[in-house]
Amino acid sequence: MGMKRDKFTRKAFSEGYSARSVYKLKAIQKRFEVIKSGDFVLDIGAAPGSWSEYVLELGGEVDSVDVVKLKGFIQVDIMSDDIYDFLKEEYDVVLSDVAPKTIGVRSLDNELSYDLSKRALEIASKVLKRNGKFVCKIFQSEFSDKFVKEVRVVFKGVKVVKPEGSKKRSKEFYVVGLRKK
Ligand SMILES: C[S@@+](CC[C@H](N)C(=O)[O-])C[C@H]1O[C@@H](n2cnc3c(N)ncnc32)[C@H](O)[C@@H]1O
Repeated sequence: MGMKRDKFTRKAFSEGYSARSVYKLKAIQKRFEVIKSGDFVLDIGAAPGSWSEYVLELGGEVDSVDVVKLKGFIQVDIMSDDIYDFLKEEYDVVLSDVAPKTIGVRSLDNELSYDLSKRALEIASKVLKRNGKFVCKIFQSEFSDKFVKEVRVVFKGVKVVKPEGSKKRSKEFYVVGLRKK
């Protein structure tokens, strides 16, 4: 099966990023300025690494977590209890672009996405500083409505965005939490 690289992927590689996902974070950054120079950032579901690369470019420091093994990354399943052994106590920003390996059954994929995003929120609520920020991907479904409400419990400001750079047909969107309570 030939993998045809799309326009965004080619652009990402030519600009030195590991994935096209970077343009989604760039679009979010442009609107909400979530990351500031000197910020301590946790990047969950970070492989192959474009979001982390962008955080470094912005002058932030980053802890990158993924089940996939990558040099310089923390290799751990975020669903496991071990996760907290690897994390610091206080981050300025938590990013989660974590996504399940889709199995093709829409309702199950949506539920898996919800479980991962819910876990990312739980981690964010434990390790973020007061007034810290959160960016989290989730698949659009009846579960995602519930998720947005749960993010509102933890953050004073909540925005929902479908950034440029998301594939048109994809059902994903991002929830941005501003000012952790
Ligand atoms: C869309 S990719 C992230 C792309 C990344 N933001 C970038 O810019 O390069 C989603 C990632 O979530 C990771 N992931 C899925 N389930 C996970 C889990 N339970 N724990 C940690 N990482 C997980 C996958 O391995 C995958 O690398």
